[in-house]
Amino acid sequence: MRQSVRDMLHGGVDHSRLESKYHSLLNEKRTSIGYPVNQDWDFSELFKFLEVPVNNVGDPFQHSNYKLNTLEFEQEVIDAFAHFTQAPDDQCWGYVTSGGTEGNMYGLYLARELYPKGMVYFSEETHYSVAKILRLQHTPSIMLRAQENGEMDYEDLRESLRINRHLPPILFVNIGTTMKGAIDNLDKIKEILNDLAIRDYYIHCDGALHGMAMSFIDNPPAWNFADGADSISISGHKWLGAPIPCGVALAKNSHVERISRAVEYVGVMDTTITGSRSGFSPLMLWYALRRHGEAGLRDMVRKSIELASYAVERFQNDGVEAWRNSNSPIVVFPRPGKKIIEKWAIAPSGGIGHIVCLPHMDRAVVDEFIEDYLSEKQSKA
Ligand SMILES: Cc1ncc(COP(=O)(O)O)c(C=O)c1O
Repeated sequence: MRQSVRDMLHGGVDHSRLESKYHSLLNEKRTSIGYPVNQDWDFSELFKFLEVPVNNVGDPFQHSNYKLNTLEFEQEVIDAFAHFTQAPDDQCWGYVTSGGTEGNMYGLYLARELYPKGMVYFSEETHYSVAKILRLQHTPSIMLRAQENGEMDYEDLRESLRINRHLPPILFVNIGTTMKGAIDNLDKIKEILNDLAIRDYYIHCDGALHGMAMSFIDNPPAWNFADGADSISISGHKWLGAPIPCGVALAKNSHVERISRAVEYVGVMDTTITGSRSGFSPLMLWYALRRHGEAGLRDMVRKSIELASYAVERFQNDGVEAWRNSNSPIVVFPRPGKKIIEKWAIAPSGGIGHIVCLPHMDRAVVDEFIEDYLSEKQSKA
């Protein structure tokens, strides 16, 4: 038997090890600025719910045999997100997911059920999990080139659609790419479909990070149900912030009806991907939305984008070619060395790195990061 297994089975709870892990995580918090995770929240009022095995198995809008649930909170969260995404009244369905990946899987699953012979189009800047979802679902797909700023290459899309016009297209649209925060132009995509006289298609919008912000900025680009989306995925733990990964999957009712099956065991329609689902995550999302309110959410988005602008300006004043896409809190810069990547938890990709300016950050931490970045650069010169 391995020592770790022996300790697990016979060692009892190692309190000092837990304490030390807790403190080392606290120490890392301030310098974790490379991933899209807002740390500005306080859910302590919800701790008492951890005394109950809450589980939201099944469809959140139906009665469940399992009584220890928070379905009424989940419904309110989905109603709020349906409002943010401009879903037509009573024509949108959704549920709280384990994160953005599950929401994307849900959208692609609905699309494949609707168009079994469909072809998925997504750009090379799309989150890595999407290629995995497509492999899992055995859905044929075409990876498109992306432009320098991270947006889909529309000429590549046009040409690929033209060649495969006999297969109904399923468009995977990035509402903020992972590395560069680029928003694919949904209007342009629809224009191309129209030019090619393609009438049957499906549009899924991946708003993992930026989807949370789009309804709180002035003049947002096309991104939601009113702009033609059939389904949308948004992460909960990213811009809004939560200690446990979560998100929402939203889709038009009519698409969801195609996949729902009644399950006697739980007495509910099986419209979700997983069986058991967190009953705690809907509480966190509900609490965060209530705590901020509309004015708070708008403020949260404005401050994040202002901080990102500040970071770009500071970098540029020091001769570093940093930049960002509009409406994005992601600041892109030339890839730093290993030490900086390690210390600041920077997500690297090829020749670039980025930081994601979210509400828990302030100018002081951005300044400190940039000083570190510059001194590493100077020491290499
Ligand atoms: C654009 C995009 N899509 C999907 C995901 C996956 O989301 P999650 O980590 O919530 O599963 C991410 C994560 O960073 C992302 O940036």
